[in-house]
Amino acid sequence: MTTTSDLPAADLLPFFAYRDQQLVMEGVPLERLAHEHGTPLFVYSKAAMLSALAAYQRGLKGRPHLICYAMKANSSLAILQTLVRAGCGLDIVSGGELERALAAGVEPSKVIFSGVGKTRAEMRQALTAGIGCFNVESRAELDVLNEVAHDMGRRAPVSVRVNPNVDAQTHPYISTGLKGNKFGIAHEDVIDTYVHAAACDGLRVVGIDCHIGSQITQTGPYLDAMDRVLDLVEAIEARGVAIEHIDFGGGLGIDYQGDTPPEADALWSQLLQRMEARGYGDRKIYIEPGRSLVGNAGVCLTEVLYLKPGEHKNFLIVDAAMNDLPRPAMYQAFHRIVPVAQPQTEEQATTWDVVGPVCESGDWLGRDRALSVRAGDLLAVMSAGAYCMSMASNYNTRGRAAEVLVDGTRSTLIRERETPADQFRTERMLPAA
Ligand code: LLP
Repeated sequence: MTTTSDLPAADLLPFFAYRDQQLVMEGVPLERLAHEHGTPLFVYSKAAMLSALAAYQRGLKGRPHLICYAMKANSSLAILQTLVRAGCGLDIVSGGELERALAAGVEPSKVIFSGVGKTRAEMRQALTAGIGCFNVESRAELDVLNEVAHDMGRRAPVSVRVNPNVDAQTHPYISTGLKGNKFGIAHEDVIDTYVHAAACDGLRVVGIDCHIGSQITQTGPYLDAMDRVLDLVEAIEARGVAIEHIDFGGGLGIDYQGDTPPEADALWSQLLQRMEARGYGDRKIYIEPGRSLVGNAGVCLTEVLYLKPGEHKNFLIVDAAMNDLPRPAMYQAFHRIVPVAQPQTEEQATTWDVVGPVCESGDWLGRDRALSVRAGDLLAVMSAGAYCMSMASNYNTRGRAAEVLVDGTRSTLIRERETPADQFRTERMLPAA
């Protein structure tokens, strides 16, 4: 293929470029995938995921560590396989995620189980699988886990999730480390909880963990949380309870709209320096990144159905909707939206609200976007690798989109488009009247 232009257009992320006026991910033109598989279509770059992971691996190199990908960000099996094969453990939050994790081939000892509402059945399932650690979020949960493990003749490996009361300075719905949040055990109750846990014969204390929020774009909140957690480790160990690993959670943000979060390797060299300075340089570190591993590796391709210019607003109606991409509706989140075929520079752009077909005013993907488009054109909603497909629903009986993984010049369908029959499968009709 002769390349007339190979522009990494100002607004494009790594692993994307316009070649011959066509948006390309790694070596694959996205238009071809849309034609082959239809739209809406999620497409992920393997190289983008591995490069994001490599930044963490560089930052933590030479230290005992485990990177547990928070699979809630994108739990598609092939995505899990990609990260597990590259060395990741997994952070799960349900029995369903445990099944996915095991199906993807993760070593059970590299699985950690987070979440405020684990059921007894999920605890038994995880103990049977032999997971590495339960991140416990309340005293009541700790006692139930102790009982369940004791009845099975096991000792459950536990870490207590502490709420460090640190402001992550992010959207209130994704901020989790403040006193008013439902997450973690309050700072002042942590030491007693550890002393109690250490005395339970169904439990084995292995770590401590925290997670202060998501889409964090500054280093300060991490340093504050680290200081508070290390203060606790000191106090807990002074009471005779050993802490093998310290889990600092996930939360590192990505560039959605010119955001400039620290690079994972730079962040971790700074955090490791702080740990070393405080005498914890050799302690095993766990982290639970989700969004920062997959978010900017994915796009959602969508076709423009109708142009609906109006007196107050111009609407661009596309075939992807809030059931596919719930983040704008839920958090007023911004995703870049770019044309798959690069428009000629002389074409005049119009300002559009990009909306989906779902019957809700909240069904929008982008507001006031300057685009020069016609019906039938393809658009790419960027930064759609995290918390899109994993949060997709069947609202309006819309089938969930198909997914494709790109690796160099190859592409593989990793999820078929969901059909109405798939959706009906678990339903039962009433008997004939
Ligand atoms: N660990 C725990 C305990 C968590 O609750 C989360 C995310 C993570 C790790 C991973 O955080 P990340 O590295 O992805 O920021 N749906 C929202 C994000 C919810 C995050 C929930 N917890 C969104 O679309 O922005």
